[in-house]
Amino acid sequence: MKIAMTVNGKSVSRDVAGNTLLVEYIRDHLRLTGTHVGCDTSQCGACVVHVDGKAMKSCTMLAASAEGAAVTTVEGLAKSKDELHPMQVAFKENHGLQCGFCTPGMIMTATDMVARYQAEGKTLTEENIRHELEGNICRCTGYHNIVKSIVDGASKMTSA
Ligand code: FES
Ligand code: FES
Repeated sequence: MKIAMTVNGKSVSRDVAGNTLLVEYIRDHLRLTGTHVGCDTSQCGACVVHVDGKAMKSCTMLAASAEGAAVTTVEGLAKSKDELHPMQVAFKENHGLQCGFCTPGMIMTATDMVARYQAEGKTLTEENIRHELEGNICRCTGYHNIVKSIVDGASKMTSA
């Protein structure tokens, strides 16, 4: 079946099997491999993308369910190749990654959480961040620098 959507601001359309997952559509058909697959149990969060502005695990969603949607992957977060998104800068500056496998999902989850808290006028505390990261697993960092990165990224996003 033909499935069309907007990915990182570009209209795309591909003929795929009806049971194609969104993460397969993104990685295998669009060749956007920044979105990772770290499990087959919907637990790790390495596959998080934004669908119509909301963070979603793209391994738990059929591509057909994203028909007509606006999808953003980690490749589409920065304004340009020369200017990282403020949350990407924060992860870089605060050593929020080691192997980097979880990082795309962490950053997509983080930008969604900051945008939600800002929209609701709520303060994002370290405790909130740790709670919000329940669906994202990192095997390397112990999370401390990820939380630090998100606190910094939130402040950078506010002043951007
Ligand atoms: Fe989607 Fe692990 S690959 S949650
Ligand atoms: Fe290696 Fe998170 S940095 S899994």
